Formats: sequence, structure tokens, C-alpha cells
Amino acid sequence: MDMKIAPSILASDYANLESELKKISSSDLIHVDVMDGHFVPNISIGPPVVASIKKVCDIPFDVHLMISEPLRYAEDFAKAGADIICFHAESDGDTGETVDKILSLGKKAAVAVKPDTEIDVVFPYLDKLSMVLVMTVEPGFGGQSFMERVMPKIEKLREMGYTGDIEVDGGINPETVKIAARAGANVFVAGSAVFKSESPNGTIALLRNNAQN
Ligand code: DX5
Ligand code: ZN
Repeated sequence: MDMKIAPSILASDYANLESELKKISSSDLIHVDVMDGHFVPNISIGPPVVASIKKVCDIPFDVHLMISEPLRYAEDFAKAGADIICFHAESDGDTGETVDKILSLGKKAAVAVKPDTEIDVVFPYLDKLSMVLVMTVEPGFGGQSFMERVMPKIEKLREMGYTGDIEVDGGINPETVKIAARAGANVFVAGSAVFKSESPNGTIALLRNNAQN
């Protein structure tokens, strides 16, 4: 399976986003964390910043919406340049309606689940989703520790024959990436591990290599 590395710019220097993006030129996806201070306690960035960085980066954008009303904002993020729009099953509104809205905007749809949410909630939508995001930390902040206890959710998805992308997000580093890959994940978000390293592109290569073995 294709292993993809998606650095999270949440861990980057927001004063220098263009040069930060150049440091991760070997990424498969750019993971953009959007937080509204309501669905999660933290606030990050919104559509205007996504639109600005889209102009200086050719790598597809994986936009992770940690917001209460994804249906309301999906169009703004689509226009801003999101390629994949990922929202939480725990957010407000009907999951199926939000998936359909994202697809109608011509974007790939993904659904995320928090660590304590059963994976079964995504089952009705699997044929429409490009990706399922299994959170490996509580959403809201970078730099937290990887929760191995959520791995059975990934195994369950693969056992039932799901062949789409499974993304993990939170606490991914060159060691934990192996655990997640073994469980069946193939898209790996890494914020701190990439941006706090001396060579972000070197760390991306290491993560990809460790995921493959
Ligand atoms: C957490 C975010 C993550 C975060 C990961 O709510 O969704 O994408 O940036 O950060 P690290 O890799 O530092 O755990
Ligand atoms: Zn994220």
C-alpha cells in the first residue's frame, strides 16, 4: 500500500509559512489543522490563510476541520483550495449530508473519529469516503502522546475490507509510525516530529521508510 506522509503545519512557524512549506517539499499531503475554539478548546487558522498558502504550494491540502459546523464552512474551505476536506463524526449536523456537500463541491471527503468514538459511525459512508482519520490523540493540540489503544479501530476497518486511505493523527514519530502502519494505517500526520527536527525532509523520508517496514 502507498504510504503517505502529511506534515501538520500546526507545528510550523506561522510567521514564515512559505519558507516552512519549502522545508517539507517531499510531503505527500499538507495537513492543515482548523480549530474553532468550540469543537476543540484551541483556535488555529481559517480559509484566508489556506487560500494564501495554496498560492505558494503545489502539494495537495488535507484540511482537518476540528469545528462544530463543518457543513456551514465546507464551501469556504473548498474555495480556499482544500483538496481533501476532513470533518469529525462528533461535530454538529448530519454526517451523510456533510459528506455529500463536500463531494458536490468536487472535493474528496474524509471523516475523523476521536479516540473514544466507535469506528462503526463511519461504516454507512465508507463507499463515499476517500479517507478515514483515526485520531491517535484528543484533537486540539500538537505535541501529545500517541494512543496505541485506538489501533483496533484501524484493524477493524481493514478486516472488513476497507481499501481506502486510513490516516492517523497525533503523536506520530519514527517509532509510533511503525505501530500505526502495522495496524493498517497508510497516511501519517506528523507535526512536531517533522517541524522540530533538524531536517524536515529527512524526517519525512525516515517516517515513510519506517511505515513501509
Ligand atoms: C491535533 C491535530 C494534529 C496535530 C498533530 O489536534 O489534529 O494534526 O497537529 O501534532 P503532533 O504530530 O505534534 O502530535
Ligand atoms: Zn490534524
